[in-house]
Formats: sequence, structure tokens, C-alpha cells
Amino acid sequence: MAEKRTEALRWVEIPIALPPSGRTETFSLGDLELLLCNASGTPYIVRDECPHVRTSMKGGVIRGTILECPLHGGLMDLRDGSPKGMPIRSSGTCFRVRAQGDRWQVGLPL
Ligand code: FES
Repeated sequence: MAEKRTEALRWVEIPIALPPSGRTETFSLGDLELLLCNASGTPYIVRDECPHVRTSMKGGVIRGTILECPLHGGLMDLRDGSPKGMPIRSSGTCFRVRAQGDRWQVGLPL
């Protein structure tokens, strides 16, 4: 994801490898449970909490930039967390990602 905004962030190296294309993997940073998503080679990170009933979205399938929740099949756009299919009605939380050398970093709010 390209960097566009300039708000202050704390950049932290992502401690796991990018999962296979179309797949997700979970990891923790402090109190945050995060989901690393591979959308055809582009990494996205969202809070690992479905906006529908607050469960993990690990195991969800990605088509384009849309993540399908493994529990009820709700759809969420990884670019901005917006809902794209019922039963998800509210937005998820997205975090910015950037490349740093051959590693990926996630931008956390200060
Ligand atoms: S828990 Fe994700 S769609 Fe229901």
C-alpha cells in the first residue's frame, strides 16, 4: 500500500512472513491482534476482529482486495476496512504497511 498520509506513526517490523497469495496470518504486537493479508502480493494489515461479531478473521479468503470472513462470509475491503457484503455493516480497522529494505513494517498510531 502506498504511503499517502503524513500523520505521525510508529513503524514496527512485521514479525511474520507474508502468507501465500489470497491468504491471511495472525500476529500480535503488544495488545494488538493483527491480521496480515496477502492480496496478490500486496500486504494489508487489519485488526484481527471481524466487525460483525468480533471474532478472528484468520482463515478468510482474499479476492482482489476483498477479505471474506471465514465465519459468516461477510466481506470487507482491505484498503479501508469498509464493509462490502453482509452481514458486515461497519468498518474494520486498517493499518498502513510499508516496505523497509526486504522487510515489511506496520504503522501504529503514536
Ligand atoms: S463473524 Fe465475520 S461475518 Fe460474521
